[in-house]
Amino acid sequence: AFTPRVFSGIKPSGGLTLGNYLGAIKRFVGMQGGDFETIYCVVDMHAVTVWQNPDDLRTATREVAAGYLASGIDPSKSILFNQSRVSAHAELGWLFNCVARVGWMNRMTQFKDKAGKNSEQVSLGLYAYPSLMAADILAYHATHVPVGEDQKQHVELTRDIAKKFNHDYKVDFFPETTPVIEGPAMRVMNLRDGTKKMSKSGESDMERVNMLDDADTIAKKFKKSRSDQDVLPDSMDGLADRAEARNLVNIYAALADISNDAVLAEYGGQGWGKFKPALADLAVEKLAPISGEMRRFMDDPAEIDRIMAHGADKARAIAEPILNKTFDIMGF
Ligand code: ADP
Ligand code: NA
Repeated sequence: AFTPRVFSGIKPSGGLTLGNYLGAIKRFVGMQGGDFETIYCVVDMHAVTVWQNPDDLRTATREVAAGYLASGIDPSKSILFNQSRVSAHAELGWLFNCVARVGWMNRMTQFKDKAGKNSEQVSLGLYAYPSLMAADILAYHATHVPVGEDQKQHVELTRDIAKKFNHDYKVDFFPETTPVIEGPAMRVMNLRDGTKKMSKSGESDMERVNMLDDADTIAKKFKKSRSDQDVLPDSMDGLADRAEARNLVNIYAALADISNDAVLAEYGGQGWGKFKPALADLAVEKLAPISGEMRRFMDDPAEIDRIMAHGADKARAIAEPILNKTFDIMGF
């Protein structure tokens, strides 16, 4: 008996990538105005789990907001706000630190990847991040969370926290949230290394397409993207051992809103000399109007701030009663 409600977020830890667009924002727009209430967040408190220069954080926070707005997130249809402006996230996050188990955190593969051999030197926040993410979701009793493949484990941990809380306090208070992971672009890969995810905090600019890249840069990045010597096959089976090729086909499919098989029906038997320029043209066709609109928003930071402040008021109206009820259940 929970209201069908979507929550998702993006970290302002650098410029938005094509991975964020296809794996997240484009899908968030698609869920708007349908069966769900939609709540989208700039998760700035997650960004500071690794060092952020304050001016860069301010800029990136507005860039993510501009990316949402320019892509079609409509503040009259969705609640759009910055995480740090709604204190229920931090408060519920603390309570969930006391529900989640250290052993659960130790299994998080993203932490292991990000901390690497340096796990004694990273922030405590990076370790506890999935517990704050559970609070982001459950502060709204969100039933569905559209995310890319990389976030699946964190949504499963969110379910574990909800279940343990409900069990320990003998209530049916938090929903068991469903991760929504579907479509060809759930894991857009790095253009230079098909084994790594494309990420805004990746090392080299050539490995990702940024939503704000200009047409020439986008063309150059796809032209130089790693592929292989073979022509494209007629079906996806032929791409099983070809990670880079599969990634480029997935990107094309997601941008064009068609299936991978439809892409191969058109390009099967063709070489990269034909496919890469077509992919670059398609990416420019889809991204250029959005990046133009993003720049217009970013030229008016006061307008962005006004929209986000209004969204925070609406978010608080949902999250605060849920937080207060949580305190009550726990005996505060
Ligand atoms: P990043 O890894 O670029 O810093 P975030 O952690 O802020 O991105 O993730 C924001 C959303 O974008 C999440 O739903 C995440 O799953 C999605 N996402 C990020 N990178 C990719 C990618 N390469 N492919 C598909 N989805 C992605
Ligand atoms: Na991520």
